[in-house]
Amino acid sequence: MHKSIIKFTFAVLLIATSSNVVMAQENEDGRRYGNFCSSCHGTAGAAVSDAIPSIGGQHKDFLITSMLEMKPQVVDGKEQAPKRYSTLMQIFFKGYSEDEIKAMADWYSSRPWVPTNYPLNQDLVNKGKASANLDTCTSCHGTDGNNIEDTGIPRIGGQTPTYLYHALLEYKNNKRNADGRALEMDVVKEISDEELRALAEYFSSLR
Ligand code: HEC
Ligand code: HEC
Repeated sequence: MHKSIIKFTFAVLLIATSSNVVMAQENEDGRRYGNFCSSCHGTAGAAVSDAIPSIGGQHKDFLITSMLEMKPQVVDGKEQAPKRYSTLMQIFFKGYSEDEIKAMADWYSSRPWVPTNYPLNQDLVNKGKASANLDTCTSCHGTDGNNIEDTGIPRIGGQTPTYLYHALLEYKNNKRNADGRALEMDVVKEISDEELRALAEYFSSLR
């Protein structure tokens, strides 16, 4: 009886230690692969422009899905159109394997989330705050835009403003994986571009 408990404890400890080692290694690899990304996404994922998303501290599940959806997949030797539209990222992700992408997601998600310090248009922020659709957004994204319980719902509180607006237009115009989790964003199809611009500015202002 005692022996089996000791064996069991030992096995659990062994699994726990070796998975920590794998995690740490993945994190280190992710940092290395991510060096290239820092010219745009910042040293630890805090973006350097208002049209580039911050990715440091973003939820890991969301980062993995969004990167894999932007990576063109090859089926029967033919390159397929990526499920998620992007101007640049589809070109870069061609050069990374799925494991490398997962390692980068692991590293970036473990960095702190740094809200943008880009100067915002206060008039638009106020319009966004007064939007009749705001409660719908916060029911999923959280009142501060940073729902931390559902890791498939991205952080948007403090995200860069122009990027947020473009992202909303992509959901509205079916440019993101329409049969995946993007379905949850269908609400934006009923909202005018002007109001989406204001909502983007408002969420960008949250801390
Ligand atoms: C030349 C600038 C540039 C470089 C370098 C770059 N990115 Fe991006 N990234 C962008 C832009 C711009 C977008 C918005 C999508 C688009 O239009 O391509 C983006 C989008 C993303 C997103 C989606 C974020 C979200 O909120 O959905 C992720 C994740 C990402 N990049 C990760 C990376 C990683 C990892 C690397 C390095 C392998 C990298 N990027 C290199 C500019 C860049
Ligand atoms: C039913 C839940 C739900 C509602 C309601 C919702 N969202 Fe989302 N939102 C999501 C999910 C899930 C994703 C990620 C989808 C994907 O994987 O592409 C997302 C993605 C986003 C993104 C993309 C972020 C990025 O980094 O690329 C933005 C911006 C956004 N939502 C803003 C809003 C706004 C503004 C509203 C209100 C008009 C709203 N959402 C309503 C669940 C929701």
